[in-house]
Amino acid sequence: MAEKMTKNAISSSPNKTPIPLMEIDNLVRRFGGLVAVNEVSFCVGVGEIVGLIGPNGAGKTTLFNIISGHLKSDSGVLRFNGMDITNMRASKCARMGIGRTFQIVKPLATLTVHENVTVGALLNNHSKTARDKAAHIIERVGMSDLMDKLSGSLTLESRKRLELARALSIEPKIILLDEILAGLNASEIEESIHLIRSLAVTDNLAVILIEHNLHAIMSLAHKIVVLDYGVKIAQNVPDLVVRDPKVVAAYLGSDD
Ligand SMILES: Nc1ncnc2c1ncn2[C@@H]1O[C@H](COP(=O)(O)OP(=O)(O)O)[C@@H](O)[C@H]1O
Ligand SMILES: [Mg+2]
Repeated sequence: MAEKMTKNAISSSPNKTPIPLMEIDNLVRRFGGLVAVNEVSFCVGVGEIVGLIGPNGAGKTTLFNIISGHLKSDSGVLRFNGMDITNMRASKCARMGIGRTFQIVKPLATLTVHENVTVGALLNNHSKTARDKAAHIIERVGMSDLMDKLSGSLTLESRKRLELARALSIEPKIILLDEILAGLNASEIEESIHLIRSLAVTDNLAVILIEHNLHAIMSLAHKIVVLDYGVKIAQNVPDLVVRDPKVVAAYLGSDD
């Protein structure tokens, strides 16, 4: 039922077909006795924005780490374009088109904004092309005026934008965004919402968005997946997921 509704929601927007780009199939990750990700499954289609929410410690970032190759899963399968990429190295995942931001932003502080983004663009391009592509991406995220600034001197808002630019620099087919709106003011959030939507609609990027800002996630996501203690407790269109009693209980900290 949930899956049917999700598909309807996607096909209701023009020019969108639900092609499964990434299939997350029963992924499990343990840390000692703790099951941080517990048999989680869902799909992400081309041009689809999936919201990934859940209380702190629910396993959201761990799931991102598995998908981007920064962490191995204990079991389960990850498919990208139908290919089994389970536990593939991070550099290979990036080369295949899986881009990500990190919750703790970590640009190379002694490099300029342009140099930081060029490093990512070098993955698929020679140096001159990489520099040009990086400049184009920096313009796209609205940072042209900061191009030659050292990354270490940027404000939090600009570092978040740079993090997004770095994720885009590898020319991804899917981007994993880990709380990139945290710490931004209302108008910065609106600009970011506009940008993320245009990446999906104009560039057909698949997006998985971890976000605590409910307004952003409700307005962007085609579907929302909810994790609690590593388990997927709900998946549905935004309007229905926030009314799901299991989701409400998880956020209120109830045991129900
Ligand atoms: N490298 C690690 N070693 C041990 N425990 C970890 C590690 N990374 C995450 N965890 C634990 O796994 C759980 C999920 O963490 P995380 O994925 O960061 O949650 P979220 O991003 O949803 O807040 C938490 O209980 C956290 O303490
Ligand atoms: Mg996290």
